[in-house]
Amino acid sequence: MARTLFACTACGHASPKWHGRCPSCGEWNGMVEEPVPVSSNAGLAGSLGAGRGASRRRVAAVRAVPLAEVKAPRHARLETGIGELDRVLGGGLVPGSVVLIGGSPGIGKSTVTGGALGRMAAAGRRVLYVSGEESAAQVKLRAERLGPDALLVPVIAETDLDIVEATIDAERPEVCVIDSVQTLSAADLSGPPGSVGQVRAVADRLMQVAKGRGVAIVLVGHVTKEGALAGPRVLEHLVDCVLQFEGERERTYRTLRALKNRFGSTDEVGVFEMGERGLEEVEDASSRFVAEAARAPGSVVLCAMEGSRPLLVEVQALVAPSELVPPRRVANGIDRNRLALVLAVLARHAGLGLGGSDVFVSVAGGLRVDAPGADLAVALALASAARGTSQGTPERPLAPIGEIGLSGELRHVAHPDRRLAEARRFGLDRVVAPESDRTLRAALARALGGEVTEAAAAA
Ligand code: TYD
Ligand code: MG
Repeated sequence: MARTLFACTACGHASPKWHGRCPSCGEWNGMVEEPVPVSSNAGLAGSLGAGRGASRRRVAAVRAVPLAEVKAPRHARLETGIGELDRVLGGGLVPGSVVLIGGSPGIGKSTVTGGALGRMAAAGRRVLYVSGEESAAQVKLRAERLGPDALLVPVIAETDLDIVEATIDAERPEVCVIDSVQTLSAADLSGPPGSVGQVRAVADRLMQVAKGRGVAIVLVGHVTKEGALAGPRVLEHLVDCVLQFEGERERTYRTLRALKNRFGSTDEVGVFEMGERGLEEVEDASSRFVAEAARAPGSVVLCAMEGSRPLLVEVQALVAPSELVPPRRVANGIDRNRLALVLAVLARHAGLGLGGSDVFVSVAGGLRVDAPGADLAVALALASAARGTSQGTPERPLAPIGEIGLSGELRHVAHPDRRLAEARRFGLDRVVAPESDRTLRAALARALGGEVTEAAAAA
């Protein structure tokens, strides 16, 4: 009898053989190989639903408990020793939990997890690094760059899930990193490592290992730029915490944010910089970005909130006459749709139509700011670029704090006081905000003086 079956991820239909298109619901490419559950005594037939309704298991009901009476112990945390990582995790790793760190290849996942294990090993914790991608020698080469702590970490280069599980049993680590989840494979599945079925089976088993033995497991997962790769995405609902590593490989800044966290908030962001000795934490990111800001036309310092932390980042815009129809709209670090919205409001309510110009907007350092709180800064950067004049004065640029409404009004953003305090800390004591300017038109007039038009931009 077959020990695996293929189940449709859309409707759950199971079949002993693979179909490109699910015979039940017609979904394409949704069939995933899964082991036949051992508990199902009906075997394949049971899984296929043939025995449905035939015989019900006899079980006793359980008593429902009011939440107030539920005992919820405070989770002990294992601090990783990397402050930015601990903050994103909500204070450290929770024993028995599974964390998935996703990110594109080369972003620094192995570096940060290796560094964290090193610090924990130096603090006397039992750790284990499972490398499925690199040989132990390659892992050592990286560890040498990271410093003496990283060399304390015990490593195995292994891709067989059973062996990994046996090793965790024998070594009894408190924290184990699996780099990466896509390289491990379960012997009872025929699919190649990294296929949806394999990745799910591996994660399922490691979840049981984590819960059963109280070990915190960190799964590293590669995500392509499109995030389409079969892999981490299918695990998001399984694991306790999903961290996403972002940034461009060519740039030095990296951000780490939680997309999901059962043990903490999801709006903390860690900022790192890739250096000679691995990823360094950037604790005072604002001062870094403000110092690097070009006080030139098209440049605006935005006071964004990254979780509970205000963060000053530079937004740059370039507006140039276009030869293309439609003209170019390039957005780096901000959402394309927000850029489209800002351009539309500028044209409709602030007298600045840029329909004949190419427009480029980017957030310096390869960072991403997606919140609508960036609207006003983007608008100001665009207007300043179109005009060819700096906003405010070079010594006293303005700090925009506001969101733009569809009718051209400025709207309040969350935590204005914290943003303001952060801006002041860096000498940006003049702000453009809904408190002082009600509309985008008024804000632009104050920041740039006079009216801004595309004709001025072309001149
Ligand atoms: P890596 O952690 O291997 O990325 P991932 O596991 O996400 O694929 O590291 C990626 C890049 O970082 C690699 O190109 C080399 C660079 N790097 C440094 O610049 N400095 C360092 O100290 C280390 C360890 C790596
Ligand atoms: Mg790696």
